[in-house]
Amino acid sequence: MDFLTLFAIYVVVVLTCIALVCKYSGQQETPFHTVFSYVAKVFSSFTPMWIQRFLTRMLHRLFHQRSNVFIYLHILLESAVYLEFSYEVFGFCREMDTTLTSLSVPYVLLVIKTYLFYLCIKRDPGTVTMKKVSGQLLMYPYDEKLFHPGVSCPSCQLVKPARSKHCRLCNRCVLRFDHHCIWVNNCIGARNTRYFLLYLFSVCAMAAAISLLTGDMLLHTVLRSGLLRASYIDEHGQQQSAGPLFVAQHLFLTFPRIVFMLGFVVFVFFLLAGYALFHFYLALVNQTSNEWYKSRGHVCQHCHPDHHHHHHHRPVPDHSTRSFYSRGLLRNLGEIFFPPQPVKKKHN
Ligand SMILES: *[C@@H]1O[C@H](CO)[C@@H](O)[C@H](O)[C@H]1NC(C)=O
Ligand SMILES: [Zn+2]
Ligand SMILES: [Zn+2]
Repeated sequence: MDFLTLFAIYVVVVLTCIALVCKYSGQQETPFHTVFSYVAKVFSSFTPMWIQRFLTRMLHRLFHQRSNVFIYLHILLESAVYLEFSYEVFGFCREMDTTLTSLSVPYVLLVIKTYLFYLCIKRDPGTVTMKKVSGQLLMYPYDEKLFHPGVSCPSCQLVKPARSKHCRLCNRCVLRFDHHCIWVNNCIGARNTRYFLLYLFSVCAMAAAISLLTGDMLLHTVLRSGLLRASYIDEHGQQQSAGPLFVAQHLFLTFPRIVFMLGFVVFVFFLLAGYALFHFYLALVNQTSNEWYKSRGHVCQHCHPDHHHHHHHRPVPDHSTRSFYSRGLLRNLGEIFFPPQPVKKKHN
């Protein structure tokens, strides 16, 4: 097998893994879910019971309980990329007269991103509490489609404000609940959606900056080495000019770590750019991903501990549900960045 096939297989495997993680962590029923349970069924037919039990417990702990595993994984991957960048790419770029200003961009972005990451992890997403609930109930009107007045959360024993949802992992109700993000081990809700959005964009910017600098470096190496004008003798003894495949192979063999890192970072960029754009779109139309899923009729059974209490008004797929509440794109964005405060009780 030549290296490109191997590389392609590798990319497909990584892609599938990350897609699985992303989809599975999204808590909603998806086609991935079906594929996943099918794979699990096949897998379980020839695996000993104790391994299955172990894996189930591991998966449960990873995806259905709060844990910092993904925060550590995040830091680990990021460190690997930045070490590789500082250790190899930086030196090559300096030799090629890339300015220090452009080389410092990834580091500046890293600082900004780390701060936003910290805010996402630490800031309260808007927990519904006994003390504040009376004010929080007035923050958004009930739409009588997805959210109905007078429904209490069986776990928190508090009336659910409109747009809130109980997070099973954190065991609390969160205002304007978007989703529970395992990468920051926190819910994304009314008070931290802004940090989450900025965080997503900063990660994309970071990946873009590193990809561009690394790509530029590799391009310069190829141009400088005159590889494009080179030729080689193939297995039939014929002279062939070096095509793009040959150049790719040469680069992969000369700078394996750099090419590998570049592949990973480009991949992360496209994955997260799509995700960030989706969330940006939702912010623009005054919708949460929870509402987006619900209004399309997807309700995850096990994520919905209280569904049997009011399944008589199960949401009907209705694609226009939320846009009704949109008061213009800019105002919607404004509300993300300056979320309404819970109304304080008046003392009289
Ligand atoms: C967003 O929708 C809610 C209703 O769910 C509404 O109360 C709020 O005013 C809307 N915000 C904007 C900026 O339109
Ligand atoms: Zn609750
Ligand atoms: Zn949560």
